Amino acid sequence: MRQVNESRVVKVTNTRYREHYHIQTPAGWLNDPNGLCFFKGYYHVFYQFHPYSAEWGPMHWGHVRSKDLVHWENLPVALVPGDSEDSGGCFSGSAIVRGNRLYLIYTGHHYYDDDNQDHFWENQNVAYSDDGIHFTKYTGNPVIEAPKDNSQDFRDPKVWEHDGQYYLVLGSREQANNRARILLYQSDDLLNWQYRGPITESRSIELEGSMWECPDLFRLNGQDIIACSPMGIQPQRHRFLNLSQAAYFIGQLDYNQAHFSHYDLHLLDYGHNFYAPQSFLTPDGRRIQFGWFSSFDNPMPEQADGWAGALTLPRELVMHGDRLGAIPAQETTQLRTGEVLNTSAIIHSPHRFTVTDPQHTEWDLTFDLTGYDGQVSWQLANTDQVLISLSYDQGSGEITVHQHGQASDRYATIGHVGQLRARIFVDTSSVEIFINDGAATFTERYYTDDQPVTTTLAASRPTATAIKAYTLDM
Ligand code: FRU
Repeated sequence: MRQVNESRVVKVTNTRYREHYHIQTPAGWLNDPNGLCFFKGYYHVFYQFHPYSAEWGPMHWGHVRSKDLVHWENLPVALVPGDSEDSGGCFSGSAIVRGNRLYLIYTGHHYYDDDNQDHFWENQNVAYSDDGIHFTKYTGNPVIEAPKDNSQDFRDPKVWEHDGQYYLVLGSREQANNRARILLYQSDDLLNWQYRGPITESRSIELEGSMWECPDLFRLNGQDIIACSPMGIQPQRHRFLNLSQAAYFIGQLDYNQAHFSHYDLHLLDYGHNFYAPQSFLTPDGRRIQFGWFSSFDNPMPEQADGWAGALTLPRELVMHGDRLGAIPAQETTQLRTGEVLNTSAIIHSPHRFTVTDPQHTEWDLTFDLTGYDGQVSWQLANTDQVLISLSYDQGSGEITVHQHGQASDRYATIGHVGQLRARIFVDTSSVEIFINDGAATFTERYYTDDQPVTTTLAASRPTATAIKAYTLDM
């Protein structure tokens, strides 16, 4: 198995933006979460990794594991590219346990010409491990090659088991019409795969995209869901404002017909910085998702310090009415190192709360809005500017999130609610906001240097508010 060349590995030169309780690289670049699974007593998370610089480059699979989903241990890099079937990179993929063995299924990326990254081809490969630490690439790779009508985009396999058979979906763009589609494959041993065909296709590039990266097909509350990361969607008023989005379809997969019938595409997260999420099932049956806490089109000031990117906290996917939502995984309470506020107050004019470590704090706020008509807000600021703010307007039923430095705000409509609960996780350079147990999430980065950070609550009319705050650390 190939090894990382330790003498070339980049180093972190400044810790000012380093996260305290999110998964990040020891140094170097990170993008998508990959291969989420539970194997032999540990949760495993892999991620797209470039160890030699803080820029995207030939993709490796970085690796961490945990006993509890929140305290992570760094492991050796699991996949190093450069073999004939992954000459240009080990791109995203997923994991599955079969017997005593952990299998990774990932995309091999290949350039026709090393000096031109615009022209490439992709295939699907397998690697396996019996100890969950050391991986062997399967000698029969590739296990899947693109069908004839495919464009060069053919990647990000997500594997699962159903009725004693293995299935995988992957993201593809058809050559003739340039549209996104999801392809289905079936196998009885994870090594020999039968092509079942496209199960759904984008109805229009403008509305649904030209490529769905990182598709994730899973079942929740009796429905099949495909989460994916569409490219090329045009903004629709307050929706789809990012260049790269994370979204989902709810529907039903007909395994016999190889067809996924579904409703419209919805956003998974309403923030500026959420892309390429993946999910897996915990041993106790919860569907847990991690996302990349950024996307290719966002500034990353931490690159100047020798690293880039983080993963979100683990989120439990839940149905909220007829929509998919997320709540913080229950294990995140184990990150609390102290309770710093537990009070109720009537909030009216801006009220600044002093906590010991404002950049490493979880806020659990409940605004009582019965018989109310107005706005409430939370904000994180330094002496010069508001870094992140959240406000809810009961008249429009809309939440607005502002991030300093971003050209436009982000929005989610949750309707008229009697109570607004916001769980807000602040880390050194990130904020994750969870509204009303699955109604909406916002994933945001912020960057501030050497300045005191403050937290302020405000309301346009007096509002009874329950306020809890905890310091957090991994
Ligand atoms: C999504 C993505 C995937 C690809 C990987 C490469 O962010 O573009 O489609 O496999 O990143 O790093």
